[in-house]
Amino acid sequence: MSTPSPFHIRLDRRRLLKSLLIATSGIITSDIYAEALTLTPRCTEGPYYPDHLPLDQDNDLLRIADGTPAGGIVTELGGRLLDADGKPLQEHVIELWQADVNGCYIHSRGEQRGKKRDEKFQGYGTFTTNDKGEYRFRTIKPGLYTGRTIHWHVAVKKGDRRMLTTQLCIAGVPQNDRDMVLNGIRDEAQRLSIIREFKPKTSGSNELFGTWDIVLGNTPDERSMGRPPGPPPTSRDRREPTEQEIKDALFGPSPF
Ligand SMILES: [Fe+2]
Repeated sequence: MSTPSPFHIRLDRRRLLKSLLIATSGIITSDIYAEALTLTPRCTEGPYYPDHLPLDQDNDLLRIADGTPAGGIVTELGGRLLDADGKPLQEHVIELWQADVNGCYIHSRGEQRGKKRDEKFQGYGTFTTNDKGEYRFRTIKPGLYTGRTIHWHVAVKKGDRRMLTTQLCIAGVPQNDRDMVLNGIRDEAQRLSIIREFKPKTSGSNELFGTWDIVLGNTPDERSMGRPPGPPPTSRDRREPTEQEIKDALFGPSPF
């Protein structure tokens, strides 16, 4: 993607430093390159990964086939998939699923109380990263539902191996401050790495645009290899919180 990501400033500096050193002395020590990208943290898959995948699984979630567009704020999301050294990872499938404008998922139990699912919204899409590791989705700003902040669910697959399951949130959303999934990520850099700014696509536009680079650790398959680098998951990390847990979090002693 052409839009710079703040999570790669350090890598760019590292490359600049490397090129300068090669030009001047040719002597490089590994200590100079000790800075590392922030690994994207694992988050719960949640209860609403589609139990029936839609026929249309492209990266334009706004439209099913050639139908009329879904409701909601049109949002474009793009970035790169990188390994821990910043190398682009191509031919990996990025899966994205999310709540529609009414906070409902394309899942047999995905309708929220008193709300109807937007039948025009695809709800799930995929994109295979190109040779630069790039991916892109055209979708909507996810709807809000009880107990969570606004979020996208994202998984990364290589073949049939699930490499990462995570979520992406939007900076400035008030519910971020008390969201249990987000605040369950104790490493601050990792937590901040999944909160991204979304701005109008162009001046005065009603459409939003945001970038997000996903950084994979060295775990080849998260299901067979156990947890990725980072803090061990708690039982809370594996699912979305219950209403009681949210009440406890808000009104009782802090469970964090
Ligand atoms: Fe969710």
